[in-house]
Amino acid sequence: MNICFIGTGYVGLVSGVLFSDLGNNVYCVDKDSEKIKNLEQGIIPIYEPGLEEIVIRNFEAGRVKFTSDINQAIRSSDVVFIAVGTPSSKDGSSADLTGVFNVANIISKNLNSYKIIITKSTVPLGTGDKIEAILLKSNNRKKFDVVSNPEFLREGEAIRDFRYPDRVVIGTNNSKKVTPIMEKLYAPIINKGAKFLIVKRRAAELIKYAANAFLATKITFINEIANLCEQTGINVEDIALGIGTDTRIGSRFLRAGPAYGGSCFPKDTKALTRTASNHKVHLQLVNAVIKSNESRSSLITSKIIKILKKPKKKIVGFLGVTFKANTDDMRDSSSLKIIPALIKKGCVVNYYDPTGNKTNFDAYKSVHFYKNANEVIKNSDLLVIHTEWDEFKNMNFDKITKNKNLKIFDLRNLYEDKYFSNKKIKYYSIGRPFNV
Ligand code: UDX
Repeated sequence: MNICFIGTGYVGLVSGVLFSDLGNNVYCVDKDSEKIKNLEQGIIPIYEPGLEEIVIRNFEAGRVKFTSDINQAIRSSDVVFIAVGTPSSKDGSSADLTGVFNVANIISKNLNSYKIIITKSTVPLGTGDKIEAILLKSNNRKKFDVVSNPEFLREGEAIRDFRYPDRVVIGTNNSKKVTPIMEKLYAPIINKGAKFLIVKRRAAELIKYAANAFLATKITFINEIANLCEQTGINVEDIALGIGTDTRIGSRFLRAGPAYGGSCFPKDTKALTRTASNHKVHLQLVNAVIKSNESRSSLITSKIIKILKKPKKKIVGFLGVTFKANTDDMRDSSSLKIIPALIKKGCVVNYYDPTGNKTNFDAYKSVHFYKNANEVIKNSDLLVIHTEWDEFKNMNFDKITKNKNLKIFDLRNLYEDKYFSNKKIKYYSIGRPFNV
């Protein structure tokens, strides 16, 4: 099939390249010509394990083309995916759709044959209707269908998530014509066992938001239970296991930790509550989740202060600052709240991150990036394990600290108390008895 992805951000690049890997001819379009030039040379703008090799292989085979010529790419394609960014609007509560509508106008001018226009970007309920209205201004209804096909890719796991999704959701108001084409497009994935769901277009748009809000709720729930466990001498992992094995609940996304972050959960939960209030519906639960998550970083900060006792001039080391492992993404990472709060209390923060220095902390004189985890550990009064990278899971703290006193606050529960026989190391974690 001839496919075009407009926008080579995270979603567009990963999905576009992986569709080419399934044997399709794919145009990945971006107005940023520098990005296009880099991609042609195999330089990938995002951090995603395994992606580079797939980009290079499919580019060399001629299945994926990187281009800024949006008109030609649309005209040569049967299926056009809109995958441009939908940042939070200025007040932070809804999605800014300028990019999506600009693209819709360009598509409108290039409908030289019947095309399926698909939104892959996360767009609020009713956006498909608006795109359709734009296209109808200068085109006959028979020349196109607007479809919603939300993505559920996790950063760092995107390749696996694309190839082996639990389900493919297609939202269309013209299922008779659209279904066989979408079935053909997704056949290699459906044949491996993914459920193929055809729903109305608005339903597909809402599925994406509801899925993310539900997962955010699940995490927030276990984080609150973790708070209770800390006060009652219970291990939250026992609770996660005990409830997660109930198939009605499910074991995934029950890892207690810092506040959830990233490019989706914080943005999408807020956009969902905004959409609901536009329809005069108050989503009490989702609002509570947002509030609980927003207060979590100050809760963690106050625990750090409690452990430090006197924070002034204390050196706090951070292992990882991104919002989770296997990504270089800092968007809504809890470190962006915790580190500045510690600086305000007079701490010095040293950090190591496998994806390098972060400009987010450039404004703080007392925040320092180290290229080596051991150096951070050696120099810390308190070490905060913030991100669950594999390389932090088996560190020999005794050897690194050389018998110096060290406190460790493990926000991802990578270790257990019993690992630390050396009395000079004091270990604290999340959702386990917390005695300072
Ligand atoms: C998410 C969704 O999972 C994906 O389907 C969607 O399309 C995009 O948003 P992503 O943001 O890449 O993906 O990361 P995810 O792995 O879902 O984690 C999001 C946040 O939740 C992170 O801060 C992570 O640390 C946190 N999390 C996740 C937990 O705290 N506990 C868990 O058990 C799982």
